[in-house]
Amino acid sequence: MTKASQRLFGFLAGRRGPWIIQGNMAVIGEALPAAERLLIVDYACELAEADCTWHLEGVTSHDRYVTRDEKNALLAQQPPLGRLSADCAAFIAVRKSSAWWALTQDERRNIIEDQSQHIALGMRYLPAIARRLHHCRDLQTAQPFDFLTWFEFAITDIPAFDQLLKILRASIEWQFVEREIDLRLVRARDV
Ligand code: HEM
Repeated sequence: MTKASQRLFGFLAGRRGPWIIQGNMAVIGEALPAAERLLIVDYACELAEADCTWHLEGVTSHDRYVTRDEKNALLAQQPPLGRLSADCAAFIAVRKSSAWWALTQDERRNIIEDQSQHIALGMRYLPAIARRLHHCRDLQTAQPFDFLTWFEFAITDIPAFDQLLKILRASIEWQFVEREIDLRLVRARDV
């Protein structure tokens, strides 16, 4: 049997999990069904969770757009997930348009950074915000989103996180976003 990918993560919404879902907003496009909790699994289990309201999958991958200098700066500043001080989280699922995917790598980099400053801007919010990006496009089964993004931060950093999102959503890059879901979560004390 083929070994499961260590880079595959499942986000299972239902009644179980260490994260309580407090907000579930459809920013662009169709909403996701309401659920109480979110469980993140870091292996390719069968994901046949009968009691799960919805589940989404994504893989971590190599960087596509960062330059060497940006990568070094990120590596120096980005915190790990799982900090005890980070009681809050955001799960943001994004699908970009076919117009985006028709672009070449250099054209996408130009929009992400030269025109939208996604990386430079995001870096200003480190180390307050810990993040992990998951890609969904190349999985075996068709996925409703292209990216699943996961962020952890302290309650006091919620305003900063919201400010970052406001700027990103007003950027040229976001003109290519055709579906976006924004879930807000807090760490449960009972698990
Ligand atoms: C917290 C600060 C943030 C930093 C430092 C940051 C950094 C980055 C970097 C470096 C990349 C490019 C990775 C590559 O080279 O392939 C990226 C991609 C991405 N980020 Fe952020 N980001 C931040 C916040 C956010 C937020 C708040 C969102 C909201 C949804 C977001 C959504 C995405 C998405 C969807 C991509 C993939 C873009 C694509 O490949 O088309 N990021 N981010």
